[in-house]
Amino acid sequence: MTFVTLTLNFFMYSFFKFILFLFPPEIAHKLAMQGIRLVLSIPVLNKILTFSFVEPVNFTGIKFKNKLGMAAGFDKNAEYVDLLHKLGFGFVEIGTVTPEPQDGNPKPRLFRLKEDEALMNRMGFNNLGVEKVVENLKRFQKPEYIIGGNIGKNKWTPNEEAHLDYLKCFIPMYDYVDYFVVNVSSPNTPNLRALQDKETLIKIFELLQNHRKSQVLSKPIYLKIAPDLTEGQLDDIIAVYHSMRIDALIVSNTTIDYEVLNHNKVFAYKEKMGGISGRPIANKANAVLAYLRRKDASLKLIGVGGIDNAQSACEKLNLGCELIQVYTGFVYKGQALIKDILSVTTSK
Ligand SMILES: Cc1cc2nc3c(=O)[nH]c(=O)nc-3n(C[C@H](O)[C@H](O)[C@H](O)COP(=O)(O)O)c2cc1C
Repeated sequence: MTFVTLTLNFFMYSFFKFILFLFPPEIAHKLAMQGIRLVLSIPVLNKILTFSFVEPVNFTGIKFKNKLGMAAGFDKNAEYVDLLHKLGFGFVEIGTVTPEPQDGNPKPRLFRLKEDEALMNRMGFNNLGVEKVVENLKRFQKPEYIIGGNIGKNKWTPNEEAHLDYLKCFIPMYDYVDYFVVNVSSPNTPNLRALQDKETLIKIFELLQNHRKSQVLSKPIYLKIAPDLTEGQLDDIIAVYHSMRIDALIVSNTTIDYEVLNHNKVFAYKEKMGGISGRPIANKANAVLAYLRRKDASLKLIGVGGIDNAQSACEKLNLGCELIQVYTGFVYKGQALIKDILSVTTSK
């Protein structure tokens, strides 16, 4: 990577971001991805923007191309798997996908908290539903793409039947993703976080694992947790991790603790509903990681939450995470963040 390419890249994203941030966040998201698709179709720009960093990580039976992935929620419907890999990510987690399509919460539901370099969202699992997502996934079946399938339940499904919703996503997606994530930690589906309760988790994992037994290939199933759990709840998670042979934990989803914000607290409390992501949640997510690691050195961990430079990425790796993911940091910093992180964390 030459100095000229890096500088060009930086200025391109600064310009791109200036324009994008004039639009509401959801529109900007679509424009950005369509813009990237267009730019990558122009050979000279494709050469500047495409970044391939190979430093394989063997984790839960999968060979990841590198340790940095795009977190769930950015590509809910598996539309940008190719683009995100071309930008340099080693893996892409699509979803959260639900059995039936759903619109999510009314707009506005995504807010930029610029001074905090954070986002606040109450999207509510807007997605096209598993049938359409599987159609999209079929387009990206290449050995160089590592895809995670993050699954959830429809808003109207009562918690007592939630396990069936996870299975309804798991079965049709099974052949098209490399790993699964049981998401019980988004704050924007009423009562979803109650599924982090021990008995409910056991019910979900039992069902998924029974189906997995009937398959030729055994695909790993991870659990994504909230950063707002008490130590008692985390102890329960560790117990279920072992009893149900969960393959790894993803720590963490967004927080509903608005005290983490420095500049936008008043706004967040006024809006009331929504999870915070980005720089302000790093300490909280790291505290959960540190607790889990202290309690049990054998846990397999993926770290996400507040990574926005190489240093914050290293903090997660130093806490024992073998893989890391970003979302909000990428919105604020663009592709430069991927290069920054991967060049510094090599062989860490
Ligand atoms: C707009 C938005 C939508 C998200 N949607 C999902 C989702 O559907 N499923 C999920 O598991 N996490 C979702 N997340 C959480 C992210 O995957 C990630 O765990 C969280 O944002 C913390 O990482 P970050 O600080 O790098 O953004 C979403 C985050 C944002 C900002």
